[in-house]
Amino acid sequence: MFYTLSQSSYVLSTALFIFALHWMSDPKTARRGVYAGVVAMFLAVSATWAQPAIIVHHVWIVIAIALGFVVGVPLSRVPLTAVPQRTALSHAFGGAAAGLVGTAEFFLWYNGEQENLTPFKMTALVIEIILGYLTFTGSLMAAGKLQEIKWIPQRPVIYKGQNASNVFLLLVAAALGIALVVTPTAAWAPTAFLAIIGLALLFGVLLIIPIGGADMPTVISILNSYAGLSAVAMGFVLDNKLLITAGALDGSSGLILSIIMCKAMNRSFTNVLFGAFGQVQAAAATGEQKVYKSESIEGAAQIFEQASFVVIVPGYGMAVAQAQHKVQELYEQLKKRGITVKFAIHPVAGRMPGHMNVLLAEANIPYTDLVEMDDVNADMPQCDVALVLGANDVVNPCARYDKTSPIYGMPIIAADKARTCFAVKRSKNPGFAGIDNELYFADHTFMLFGDAKKVVGELVKELTGGSGH
Ligand code: TAP
Repeated sequence: MFYTLSQSSYVLSTALFIFALHWMSDPKTARRGVYAGVVAMFLAVSATWAQPAIIVHHVWIVIAIALGFVVGVPLSRVPLTAVPQRTALSHAFGGAAAGLVGTAEFFLWYNGEQENLTPFKMTALVIEIILGYLTFTGSLMAAGKLQEIKWIPQRPVIYKGQNASNVFLLLVAAALGIALVVTPTAAWAPTAFLAIIGLALLFGVLLIIPIGGADMPTVISILNSYAGLSAVAMGFVLDNKLLITAGALDGSSGLILSIIMCKAMNRSFTNVLFGAFGQVQAAAATGEQKVYKSESIEGAAQIFEQASFVVIVPGYGMAVAQAQHKVQELYEQLKKRGITVKFAIHPVAGRMPGHMNVLLAEANIPYTDLVEMDDVNADMPQCDVALVLGANDVVNPCARYDKTSPIYGMPIIAADKARTCFAVKRSKNPGFAGIDNELYFADHTFMLFGDAKKVVGELVKELTGGSGH
């Protein structure tokens, strides 16, 4: 009876996890998706906790939950710009949990019930600890790079024979794993097991050091999928079907997300993992000096007032400046004048998936005015004014034709097709890819230099004054 109840809860949790992912893919239903995920997790934990073999350890479980709150509540309060490193920390904990459970299970069985160490379970255990522990150190490194912690180098760390030595390390771990699967009860098995853990921990660090800080969001998503796969292996070790399905959902969604990000940047997995992308920046930034045209706030406001169709292209700079609320005020001012205003959302604008959507939703901009790149590009020739707000790479026309450019082939928002373009940024510094942006030098582009929040604030002031409000 109890078994049926707990298995039914697991089926319900799995269904809710699937719906949660589905709902979270659209801003309109995202909130429902989050609630479904919370209910699913609550059900899963309760059904597991209530099992007779587990409930006897309730004191430990309560202590673990309390500790989880102590760490989790402050983590949930980080600013939006720190969400990528926060996510990396969550994956680190997930990886560590899988690794520790695998370690405990192995030693429990080795010292007592050795008949459990079947080749199948041993294979799952080895996969679980390799993926779990490498996710742990890899994610910690990724979080450290994103947080710009001093003693973790942001730039890719490259040395000769790097890939070969990394592959060798992984092969040694795999060879030890195979030896364990064949003879799990040998006297040297615990030592080999610990050696695999050590190698996996080291591999996690070595995997991340050649990757530039700015490529971390994609890497975090790949690590997410490793953590999920580690949970699948743990599910096989513990004979827990929910862990297998939830881990598979986690693993595949992480993988799909990394593929979407790589496609939107026109880069391959191998390029992200082994391409040392940050290196391009230093070399490419030294181009000849071209001339920018600037515009005053008053002049810009006049052109906005005459427009009938405005497209705002937000980018990483809007997030840095936290300009979204000022942008909402600008949106209101333009709408008041009967101007059509759309937001052009590039899939990798900012530094994490959905970065712009989250910021604009926070400022209560209607979802219906957020338009995806492919849809908005068709309308760009009819656009009177494009306001490029702290966006750089995602509007750089050289991605279309310059084969030597690091962003060649990346689909871009066609801000250059608008009749007039205003670009807001603080300086002449390049964006993430470290290259000049010819859009800024185009005949119909005018720079509004300054912090995005300040510039948009001044524009709003000018428009408010101009309309007599
Ligand atoms: P970027 O190309 O990074 O350009 C951002 C621009 O914002 C910079 O040129 C910067 O110029 C400006 N800026 C920074 N702070 C500002 C402030 N306070 N006020 C005004 N401007 C400010 O950004 P993007 O166009 O959004 O492109 C995103 C890039 O990140 C792409 O290359 C993409 O491949 C990469 N990437 C994205 C993701 C995801 S998932 N979104 C993941 C990994 C990599 P100044 O310094 O002169 O102000």
